[in-house]
Amino acid sequence: MQQDSNRTPRRILITGGAGFIGSNFVHHWCNSYPGDRVVVLDALTYAGNKQNLASLASNSDLKFVQGDICDRTLVDNLLESEDINTVAHFAAESHVDRSIIGPGAFVQTNVVGTFTLLEAFRQRWNKREQPQNDRFLHVSTDEVYGSLEADDPAFTETTPYTPNSPYSASKAGSDHLARAYFHTYGMPTIITNCSNNYGPYHFPEKLIPLMCINILLGKPLPVYGDGQNIRDWLYVEDHCRALDVVIHRGKPGETYNVGGNNEVKNIDLVEQLCELMDELAVDLPVSPSKKLITFVKDRAGHDRRYAIDASKIKRELGWTPQETVAGGLRHTVKWYLANRDWWQPLLSDEYKSYYNQVYS
Ligand code: NAD
Ligand code: DAU
Repeated sequence: MQQDSNRTPRRILITGGAGFIGSNFVHHWCNSYPGDRVVVLDALTYAGNKQNLASLASNSDLKFVQGDICDRTLVDNLLESEDINTVAHFAAESHVDRSIIGPGAFVQTNVVGTFTLLEAFRQRWNKREQPQNDRFLHVSTDEVYGSLEADDPAFTETTPYTPNSPYSASKAGSDHLARAYFHTYGMPTIITNCSNNYGPYHFPEKLIPLMCINILLGKPLPVYGDGQNIRDWLYVEDHCRALDVVIHRGKPGETYNVGGNNEVKNIDLVEQLCELMDELAVDLPVSPSKKLITFVKDRAGHDRRYAIDASKIKRELGWTPQETVAGGLRHTVKWYLANRDWWQPLLSDEYKSYYNQVYS
């Protein structure tokens, strides 16, 4: 993005900065704004991984703190000791299938954790006499809008909330809290609702990395239901650029939808991944890898279609995605091929036990 020479340096707390999108955002911010203070708060749950930030280990602007966003004392201390003026809140339980198995952790982190951060930030913001340039960015999802039929128009910022899974219901609850803190207290919160991301550091449980890894291991590629569900895919770096623009130029109290305008049926996406792997990988255990595609029992309450209308962020803040699906998937497949050392240790006993529960 274009640099503003009068830009006020930010002292940014990035929650969930060791997860998939959060860590991509930490890289983005450190590369874009050297000299800004960057504090990462992450509990390192199964989805958090310090390796995602390993290449930034020598960056003295960056501090990593392992801890829970529900720990009010810890959050208060960090906001004060680091004199934080910006929060980018990514920390969440993020996987729909896990929310079906165990919703409790989703309510705790996504609702109680967000509430804890909002309250701590409110106290600190008041103490600092309510600077209007401070920002609390709440990173959310298109899943709060529910499921679309084939002919429905894409979700806009005014589409009514209709969350269908414990995950999306807990994110919806946190969105409502973030919105209420603007309307009640004037706190400069902004909400973004984004479509499905993909790219480097994506944990193996999600569709795209799961398929890439299973192709490399010669394991079945489990497609839920009839494979006709549609997601709107966005390369993660495009999401990071959108969040950057929202922090710098977004209006407090507003919501911005972020999406790639890339609606793809799951089965078509899996077939594209198979073709890319067949082209780019050597010595695949099963070739052509499409032979591995297996239709399995559908996800409970599986949303049929998501699609984002991102015209507001384009019109008001000038953001558009730069990556095509074809280009983004190619980068992603190459990344999983080149980074076996990153994903192999993630196939832990915990992961295997989760996998058996969902797929056996
Ligand atoms: P992720 O599961 O990869 O990462 C979540 C991170 O949060 C992990 O590092 C984890 O350790 C950390 N965390 C979990 N509970 C915590 C707690 N109590 N305290 C501190 N840290 C905790 O998730 P992601 O896919 O990177 O998603 C990040 C955010 O973006 C989430 O809020 C999610 O709802 C939202 N989002 C995700 C997508 C997507 O496609 N992945 C799309 C739109 C919005
Ligand atoms: O839309 C944004 C959301 O995208 C985020 O808020 C969530 O955090 C993120 O996990 C993602 O949710 P999805 O449920 O859409 O992503 P997932 O990768 O789990 O699944 C994508 C689609 O693929 C979905 O229709 C379910 C299907 N699927 C998934 C898996 C893991 C399969 O068919 N087989 C699978 O094994």
